[in-house]
Amino acid sequence: MIPVLSVNGLTKTYGTKKVVNNVTFSLYPGQIFGFVGPNGAGKSTTIRMITGLTPITSGSIKICGYSIERNFQQAISNVGAVVEIPQLYPYLSGLKNLKLFAGFYGKQALKRIPEIVKLVGMENRINDKLSTYSLGMKQRLGIAQALLNKPKLLILDEPTNGLDPNGIVEMRNILKVLAEKEKMAIIISSHNLAELEHTCDVIGLINNGKIIEYKTMKEISSIVESKQRIQLLCNYPNYAALLLKKKYKIASKVVGNSVILPLKEANIAVVISYLTYKKVKIYGLKKIQKSLEELYFELLNSERPSSSII
Ligand SMILES: Nc1ncnc2c1ncn2[C@@H]1O[C@H](COP(=O)(O)OP(=O)(O)O)[C@@H](O)[C@H]1O
Ligand SMILES: [Mg+2]
Repeated sequence: MIPVLSVNGLTKTYGTKKVVNNVTFSLYPGQIFGFVGPNGAGKSTTIRMITGLTPITSGSIKICGYSIERNFQQAISNVGAVVEIPQLYPYLSGLKNLKLFAGFYGKQALKRIPEIVKLVGMENRINDKLSTYSLGMKQRLGIAQALLNKPKLLILDEPTNGLDPNGIVEMRNILKVLAEKEKMAIIISSHNLAELEHTCDVIGLINNGKIIEYKTMKEISSIVESKQRIQLLCNYPNYAALLLKKKYKIASKVVGNSVILPLKEANIAVVISYLTYKKVKIYGLKKIQKSLEELYFELLNSERPSSSII
């Protein structure tokens, strides 16, 4: 299967600064790719190159097999994007706005409007003037506009910026439908990893222009799980630590009157009964879990080769 998008060694230099540095990744039908990184990391610049809005310094971009540089028309005809604030007319209704843009693409796009309006869940408000829309509604109309040419690749640059939690959930549901039912490949960028947790299949973490992690969301969840620790409050923490090392080869840490150890939930009962059997009294148990946000900062702050980070 040829990828919907393949980005290879993509680099962008402004003056002497490489703002996008050797970025490589591919995207297949039905995949949702979360492009995550702090402000200034290079997300928008990468997206602008993919959509042909900014020239590439070096490297290549292919969309459905077509080079964005050499076969711009064929390449871009497969792309729908909400890159900047959608250019919409506030005094026209949502529907009139869509009709206006569909005009650029011809009859097929006009015919698709009712279907698209349904897809983005705007049937009830589509005849209202845009000036009465919330930010979330405007974003949805922006997505509707990007869907007019039936793209195989949908690109959204920080679409959840400024949306409330409800708006974020609605956006997530729309994107999931597009990926699952329409088999669209989707790039969604954000500076917040946790926000994309339930949306994306693959995460590319970018910092200082470089992709520093490229992982499936499943892999990221298992990293979070593997970093889980259990804190046991007990009467003889040093003795408990010694017992755990001897019996199970568990490296634990003594903090005050407690011992902190890496432990899977399935093994908690076994360890506690062993310690109790050895006359250690357990007073309490606490799970210490790293949040996705903590993991994100940890990854950003340790730009080592990906395999050694986790
Ligand atoms: N037209 C430009 N000229 C010079 N520098 C730019 C230009 N556009 C972006 N940059 C710089 O490139 C870096 C990456 O920016 P950007 O891609 O917008 O990051 P992000 O979208 O991840 O916040 C930033 O340091 C920004 O200042
Ligand atoms: Mg940006």
